[in-house]
Amino acid sequence: MDARRTTSRAGRSGADYEEFLERYPGYAADDADALRAREFSRLDRLGHVYLDYTGGGLYGESQVRGHAGFLLDAVLGNPHSTNPTSIVATDYVERCRRRILDFFNASPEEYVPVLTANATHGLKLVGEGYPFCAGDVLLLSFDNHNSVNGIREYDRVHGAVTKYVPVMPPDMRILDCVLERLLAESHRTCNRLFAYPAQSNFSGVQHPLEWIDRAHDAGWDVLLDAAAFVPTNRLDLGRHRPDFVAVSFYKMFGYPTGVGALIARRDALEKLQRPWFAGGTITVASVQADRHFLAAGAQGFEDGTLNYACLPAVERGLDFLDSVGLDAVHSRVMSLAGWILEKMSSLTHANGRPVVRVYGPADTSMRGATIAFNVYDGAGETISHLFVEERANRRNISLRTGCFCNPGAGELALGISREEMMQCLDRSGARMSLDQFRQCIDGKSTGAVRISLGLASNFEDAAAFLRFLGEFREN
Ligand SMILES: Cc1ncc(COP(=O)(O)O)c(C=O)c1O
Repeated sequence: MDARRTTSRAGRSGADYEEFLERYPGYAADDADALRAREFSRLDRLGHVYLDYTGGGLYGESQVRGHAGFLLDAVLGNPHSTNPTSIVATDYVERCRRRILDFFNASPEEYVPVLTANATHGLKLVGEGYPFCAGDVLLLSFDNHNSVNGIREYDRVHGAVTKYVPVMPPDMRILDCVLERLLAESHRTCNRLFAYPAQSNFSGVQHPLEWIDRAHDAGWDVLLDAAAFVPTNRLDLGRHRPDFVAVSFYKMFGYPTGVGALIARRDALEKLQRPWFAGGTITVASVQADRHFLAAGAQGFEDGTLNYACLPAVERGLDFLDSVGLDAVHSRVMSLAGWILEKMSSLTHANGRPVVRVYGPADTSMRGATIAFNVYDGAGETISHLFVEERANRRNISLRTGCFCNPGAGELALGISREEMMQCLDRSGARMSLDQFRQCIDGKSTGAVRISLGLASNFEDAAAFLRFLGEFREN
């Protein structure tokens, strides 16, 4: 069945839509409709209900046309050279850097964007280069993405300590007092890195950006994972000044994939020690003398050839976001998220038991439009997230299930204790498959369902999703 077609008729003309518009006047329906028709009509033409923007954003048609036109009219050479086509490409690379800084209101005197393959790559550059030594500390929030969690393997190698600050169900927030204590605990003489997500890709919780100043005041360096935050929220680096910020551009505007940035304070970048060098990262290297000199600034961190044919599309994507208006997108997705959260919490089986349980804030304050939940039957038993996904797939609804590469939030939300986890993992050999893990942690649901809204989301998407959830209701 095509969920969208049914919804378009029932959703649009129905009382629900009127009620939604009254409850959420910030939705700006005309703008949403015009954008959808102009740039994202393929969603409706192909009958998709796309609800995985935290997984990947969608590109507007004009971005693709504009970039195709650009490529057809340009001759681009490898920017590591100085010939005419190389100069053209270098020019576009530098334009892209300037546009990134401009978009995030980052001063070029203070910040430099290292162009990376994605957010993970930027995070890895910090992990492998941060000068961890014995006695140093890496402080992580429980709801970090695995691409941040993985940094702990670098600190282990160097004898530093990893500490985690927990998030507290059901809201999945961090208690201020616990964070304050951890920030104050270690010595100022150590290197200390605090890494947290501006928005959790599990619960949608937005952690305060004010923590950046507090951590700085206590002598910490701050790595902000902004991958899930920046697609629908403004990050102002003139106001909040972390040492490092990691983003992936496909999450913001769909195309190009394969390009991200580590936006780093110049002084913080100087502190990183590269464990190797590569083509493009040095000024001079000698085989016989066994010496090399790293290039200054971003270049020293950009291994090999940049994705130079796609970088102009980043500039175009940022222009596109600006033309649509990030604040308008924010307001739209939060209206839809508020509506969905209200409807989810009031959805009950005939016997009064709730159909869903949301992991994270029940309202829209200090959260983004990413909602994690599980579905329950009338007896209160969890319906497997895998079953929910299978059913959604049949409706052409794209949502996400599992733990979304965010095991800490998943463990706390689903009530899996450290002991249970240790027991299960200790039984494994050198490797463990996801199926083996599911079997050994039996009885517990080892995942959740996640929907996330973005640039092209509209009321019909929300309505189609709510109708889908309604199918689980037992009379
Ligand atoms: C919060 C967060 N951080 C990091 C990442 C990793 O992004 P990428 O896979 O683009 O490197 C993701 C991806 O979903 C994310 O949501």
